[in-house]
Amino acid sequence: MKFFIDTANLDQIKEAQDMGILDGVTTNPSLMAKEGISGTEKVKQHYIDICNIVDGDVSAEVISTDFDGMIREGEALAALHEQIVVKIPMIKDGIKAIKYFSSKGIRTNCTLIFSAGQALLAAKAGASYISPFLGRLDDVSTDGINLIDEIRMIFDNYFFETEILAASIRHPMHIIDCAKIGADVMTGPLNAITALLKHPLTDIGLAKFLEDHAKNN
Ligand code: G3P
Repeated sequence: MKFFIDTANLDQIKEAQDMGILDGVTTNPSLMAKEGISGTEKVKQHYIDICNIVDGDVSAEVISTDFDGMIREGEALAALHEQIVVKIPMIKDGIKAIKYFSSKGIRTNCTLIFSAGQALLAAKAGASYISPFLGRLDDVSTDGINLIDEIRMIFDNYFFETEILAASIRHPMHIIDCAKIGADVMTGPLNAITALLKHPLTDIGLAKFLEDHAKNN
């Protein structure tokens, strides 16, 4: 399973990259705003800065919601760097835009997926990735992991090449559950990724090893 970090924070991206386990980055307009990045040129430069830190794919989201606007914006984003994947919302014009980009060889990530039907449509249009939002489904008392399971089954039935990018990951168990089901990618915050490191028995065991070593040296 590929590990993407879901942030526009350059320090956090560098930290994950330095661990050697990072395969890509996802951003969205909220994450860019959180870092205080605004204005077309600054946003574009920020995407280039992110691409220069990581080796893998970097999702850059369009703001337009009409077909022509999404095409204009998406082409400009894709031209910034070869690692850019154009992130398109799950709406009717978005599906048309994904189909267009697919025919031009521009990779896409269809975002705001909350149902298996939406995932199926985006895959048929040729999306490179689809992003089901687990945490936000859990927030409304709906099992987000179950959606990943359904999409995995559908994509396997028809050999869709679209990758399932599990998003809105909130904690380490989301990551483990996605790995069990076979999500192709998970994107989460740095604290959910580093939480995978932790186990109290590891800490206790290491302290004991060091203590015993110190006794004999
Ligand atoms: O990748 C989508 C993600 O940014 C949404 O996460 O935590 O805002 O639901 P969250």
